[in-house]
Amino acid sequence: MKHFLNIIDLSNDELLGLLSEAARLKEAHSRRIPAHSLTGRVVALIFEKPSLRTRVSFESGIAQLTGTSLYLPGNEVGLGWRETLADFSRTISQYVDMLVLRVYRHETLDGLAQHSTIPIINALSDWSHPCQGLADVLTVRELFGTETGRTVVFVGDGNNVARSLAVACGKLGMKFVLACPMGYGFDDKFKEQYRQRVDANFPVEVNDPHAAVSHADVIYTDVWTSMGQEAEREERLKRFAPFQVNARLMARAPSHCKVLHCLPAHRGEEITDDVMDGPACAAFQQAGNRLHTQKAVMEWLLK
Ligand code: CP
Repeated sequence: MKHFLNIIDLSNDELLGLLSEAARLKEAHSRRIPAHSLTGRVVALIFEKPSLRTRVSFESGIAQLTGTSLYLPGNEVGLGWRETLADFSRTISQYVDMLVLRVYRHETLDGLAQHSTIPIINALSDWSHPCQGLADVLTVRELFGTETGRTVVFVGDGNNVARSLAVACGKLGMKFVLACPMGYGFDDKFKEQYRQRVDANFPVEVNDPHAAVSHADVIYTDVWTSMGQEAEREERLKRFAPFQVNARLMARAPSHCKVLHCLPAHRGEEITDDVMDGPACAAFQQAGNRLHTQKAVMEWLLK
């Protein structure tokens, strides 16, 4: 059974194929060409955490492909506590054609996937955010014509979003640099996995954001405190303060450099209003691309 749990699981050809199909779907949607690839299919969305972009773009994408979506709050269906993951997975596999899950622990996805007879899409876990990574690289492609050879400087935490994007960059011939405070870089498990499974140099990690962005085509940032890390908020605000994406940092970047953010943004923390609302920012184009890349993933999984 094919799933979409991590970008690292995709071959390079599969990743390129998803990007091409997403671009085709985006073009077709802009011309209002009807699409029916999910006709008769039911997709369940189970979310343990809040979401705007992921939930709405999936539900909208399913409707555009004439499928049916069912939104199920994680606490209502009792994912992992009302019955075992195996029992849950065996049961729901008979009711719907595909599952989209946003979970706290990535192990929940792995546990469900073991027993699932339908495809599962990771809509964010503590380990990765592959739907985001796919939309990110499509946006880079649109901004520059090709993603190959471009440098993405991720200014922030070595988190789930950074891991997915780093892998996508490695697979697509892009350079990924992580600019983060000491102690907030990639963990050893990710380093080992990347070195074993990605045919590219491991991303460079630096602690000086101003030097890091001097060769950036894209500066990428994300919130400093992710969902579930609220207890660390005060400490993180202090440690990440020098890593704010602001006019001073932008002045060190090349003039063609674009800014991406997976959103939601905490304006005044990781990014300032003037950068978010300025001409370099492509975060809303990036958010729009979630719709088309996820439609490509659903079509691919159900083929
Ligand atoms: N970037 C992202 O996943 O947004 P949501 O949390 O709103 O889904």
